[in-house]
Order: sequence, then C-alpha cells, then structure tokens
Amino acid sequence: MFSARTAFSAVQRRAFSVSAQQNSKVTVLGAAGGIGQPLSLLLKLNKRVTDLALYDIRGGPGVAADISHVNTKSTVKGYNPTPEGLKAALEGSEIVLIPAGVPRKPGMTRDDLFNTNASIVRDLAKAAAEHAPNANILIISNPVNSTVPITAEVFKSKGVYNPKRLFGVTTLDIVRASRFISEVKNTDPANEEVTVVGGHSGVTIVPLLSQSNHPDISGEVRDALVNRIQFGGDEVVKAKDGAGSATLSMAFAGARMADSLLRASAGEKVVECTFVDSPLYKDQGIEFFSSKVVLGPEGVKEILPVGKVNEYEQGLIEACLKDLSKNIVKGQAFVKENP
Ligand code: NAI
Repeated sequence: MFSARTAFSAVQRRAFSVSAQQNSKVTVLGAAGGIGQPLSLLLKLNKRVTDLALYDIRGGPGVAADISHVNTKSTVKGYNPTPEGLKAALEGSEIVLIPAGVPRKPGMTRDDLFNTNASIVRDLAKAAAEHAPNANILIISNPVNSTVPITAEVFKSKGVYNPKRLFGVTTLDIVRASRFISEVKNTDPANEEVTVVGGHSGVTIVPLLSQSNHPDISGEVRDALVNRIQFGGDEVVKAKDGAGSATLSMAFAGARMADSLLRASAGEKVVECTFVDSPLYKDQGIEFFSSKVVLGPEGVKEILPVGKVNEYEQGLIEACLKDLSKNIVKGQAFVKENP
C-alpha cells in the first residue's frame, strides 16, 4: 500500500539524493567563540555542507585546523582576521551564520549587549553585503530583535537587500519550548512542537501553547511554562555564573536552522519559526516578526500567519509588540546615526 507516509519519505529520499550533488559553502563569523566552535563542529557533521569557512577576530585558523581532522567529506578552512580573510571566507557562501559578539553576564538583558554587538554586526553585515550579497544571512548575535534590523539597513544602504534571505535565529526558543513542555507532560520532546512567535528576548518571546499538542495546559502551570520559555536563557546565564550564556544548545539550534535552509534549497518543504521582514504586523509599524515560515530555495518562501490564539496569548502578543517595536527602531536608528 502506498500511504501518505511512504510518499513523504520518497520525497525525502529524492531531496536527499539531490542534496548529495549540492555544493554548499557555509560560513561562520565568530567561529572561535562559545557558540561558534560547537556550531562549526555540528556543521562539519552535516553532509549537505561541502565547504566550511571559519572566521573570527581571533582563533579562526586554530578551530578550523582542529575541526578539519574530523573524517567527514567537507573541507574546512580558517581565515585570518583581515579584510582579505573576511572576503575570502564570505565569497561563494550559501549560508552565513553570525554568532560574533559578546554574550550576557548575570543580571544583563539582551538589550544590554546592544552597544557592543550593534557595531560588530553592522561591520560584518557590510562585508557580507559586499562579498556574499545573495547568501542566506542567519543572525545569532544578540539582541536579535535589533541586530536583524541593523543587518537589513546595511544591506539596503548597499542596494542588495533581499528580505527573503535575512533570518534572525530564534530556533533555540522553539527547541527550549518543546523540551520544557515535554518535562511538564512527561512526553518525548522529539514529538513536541510549540510555535513560538514574536521576537527573541523576554516578553517578546510568545509561545502559543494553544496550538501545541497540549492546549489543555492552563492556570499556574501555563504561566510557569510560558515564563520558563521566555526567560530560559537566564537559567543558563545564572548557572554559568559569569562565563557567558547558552552556547551548546544554541549551537544545536543554529545547526538545525542552517540544515533546514539547506534542505529547503534542495527542494524539501521545511517550516521553521524565524524572525524575518514580515507583513504580519506592518500595519502597526512592526517591520520584523517571528512566525512560522515556509523555507524554499529562495530563502523565505511563505510567511504563515500567527493563526488562532486565545485571549491570554493575545495579551502576550500585545506586550511583545510594544517591546519589539522599540528594539527594531533602535537597530534601524543605530545604522542611520552610525553608518
Ligand atoms: P563568545 O564571546 O564566546 O564568542 C563570540 C566570538 O565572536 C568570539 O570568538 C569573538 O572573538 C568573536 N568576535 C567578536 N567580534 C568579532 C568580529 N568583529 N568578527 C568576527 N568575530 C568576532 O560569545 P558566544 O557565547 O558565542 O555568544 C555570541 C553571541 O550569540 C552573543 O551575542 C550572544 O548573546 C548570542 N546568543 C544568541 C542566542 C540566540 O538564541 N540567538 C543564544 C545565545 C547567545
């Protein structure tokens, strides 16, 4: 019998054989950092990645030499922290992941990182706009709610902005949400999927539990779960006690997002929640928003609506939009004032 399930795996197999012929260069900017190193390692394990380019202001070649000994097929190259090194790391790249910048210490919000990370992301975005204008750009550096608009402004100023190719990586929120809900319900997290919309910090992170496998979660349990998803990053910052924020789980999430784009470019239908230039709340002046996005060879294929939410979630969305709007405008203003 030819069930829907068999048909799906046939499509997957076909996509896989296409991908075997794919040539995909992936670049990590900030590759020697807490996220950059495990992220680069996970990308080295991904068969769809054929060339891995590792760049950092310090330590790129060392990390590359180390990872290059892993016996998978791809080539790995580390680049020196020079304009030529950055150019060579970027040229021909299909995906550029940017985890460059400083992480949080206890007591800090992601917005507290703005002063340092805004200029780092702006400068790397300038280089990406010049040397990899058609790549998918995946922004990990915080505050994502502002660093994505910063990147968009830089690409616009260079005349190469393609809203379909710019992504704020919010995958860790989705990863956390499915893990945390499985702890509440005693289930396998692999079978849990929670849509998380909005942005990537505190109250801008809006989990839609009513759309999950467990719309019954309510009251104090719901409040605690939503709070844990919104502020899960703080658990890591606190436990690391000054040594940084999430790096290993973030590397996992970043590698998943990169893989999703590579699979989509090979023709698979892949849906991820990600922070993109979005029409959903443009009428309220919000230019970027994370929601479910269908990925394709062109990057963003279709931005799916938020869908049906309950009154509680509507309240969360309203609180989100207020903060998000400020974060976006702050990023855009930064580039106008500091081009
Ligand atoms: P880290 O300090 O361990 O590593 C950052 C790396 O960036 C360092 O190796 C540094 O040399 C490099 N770097 C700094 N300026 C650079 C430049 N101009 N060009 C190239 N490389 C440069 O920090 P970590 O823990 O890896 O975090 C990186 C960023 O990711 C932080 O902004 C953090 O807040 C963010 N983050 C984002 C998450 C998300 O869900 N999107 C989750 C966790 C962290």
